[in-house]
Amino acid sequence: MKFWKRAVLAGAALLLASSASFAQDVKIGFVVKQPEEPWFQDEWKFAQEAAKEKGFTLVEIGAEDGEKVQSAIDNLGAQGAQGFIICTPDVKLGPGIVAKAAANDLKLMTVDDRLVDNGGQPIEDVPHMGISATKIGEAVGQAIVDEIKKRNWNMAEVGAIKVSYDQLPTAVDRVTGATSVIEKAGFPAANIFNAPQAKTDTEAALNAATTVVNAHPEIKHWIAVGLNDEAVLGAVRATEGVGIPAENVIGVGIGGAESAINEFKKPSPTGFFGTVIISPKRHGYETALNMYEWIANDKEPEKLILTSGQLATRGDYEAVRKELGIQ
Ligand code: GLA
Repeated sequence: MKFWKRAVLAGAALLLASSASFAQDVKIGFVVKQPEEPWFQDEWKFAQEAAKEKGFTLVEIGAEDGEKVQSAIDNLGAQGAQGFIICTPDVKLGPGIVAKAAANDLKLMTVDDRLVDNGGQPIEDVPHMGISATKIGEAVGQAIVDEIKKRNWNMAEVGAIKVSYDQLPTAVDRVTGATSVIEKAGFPAANIFNAPQAKTDTEAALNAATTVVNAHPEIKHWIAVGLNDEAVLGAVRATEGVGIPAENVIGVGIGGAESAINEFKKPSPTGFFGTVIISPKRHGYETALNMYEWIANDKEPEKLILTSGQLATRGDYEAVRKELGIQ
């Protein structure tokens, strides 16, 4: 072999070796606000798939409050990570998170819940992947309207449990999307009862919804909407708690992870009629991959990506999940 040929080959081998060892040195944090929630477990699972594929290390961290977020970021900095993806426990932590990331020289992307500045406006500089909240909320509303009609209920006599969490913009957009469609179809606004939850889990939703159902013993038929499956499941549990039969309840959630699937697997149907399945694969795998590309190849992610959803019920959830590639 001629000398120059050998030199080129050696150079190429060196390049390959160094890029492989670089991948091994890439460390990315994936910080979530509610590690016990199946949605976030799925996000982690799919983010790990990206890590395996590209050969970087993914550090999973649960951070349920501001203090834990701060120490998570410092920790990642100390471990030599180059960036992280976060679903924050409180979007108002936005400016603090941006500053901490910069102080630790970490690239920052958000998932699910978009950071806001001190004036409550989204921080548009930080790349974000979230769901198309209003549209998905509208799909929830439409599913409920269709089912009310199918069951021949008189809308004037139906009550709506609106499980709300107003400090989170995506939650507001989701429930408003749902109630706007329901109202447009003739549902009386006066029959929509607000059930503000203190936290975004099933227990908090159950507590909030129980107050509503107890206050309206005259109502026989209920519908329920909320930010996610956990919120709607809490409302459904509240109706069960006061003895309302499952066939008198139509709850439609958002998510489609294990909480919803377990409900569909129960031997007989509950008031949890359906869920709009969103994609933890896109939110986990894609954000992790985008962060990797940013670190390794200087390829900046798009500033805003909004993902879609698809309605699934007890009868077709397996097929819908398959179609979305998320089983
Ligand atoms: C919020 C909710 C989660 C999930 C994600 C999806 O973070 O709290 O349950 O719905 O949005 O983006």
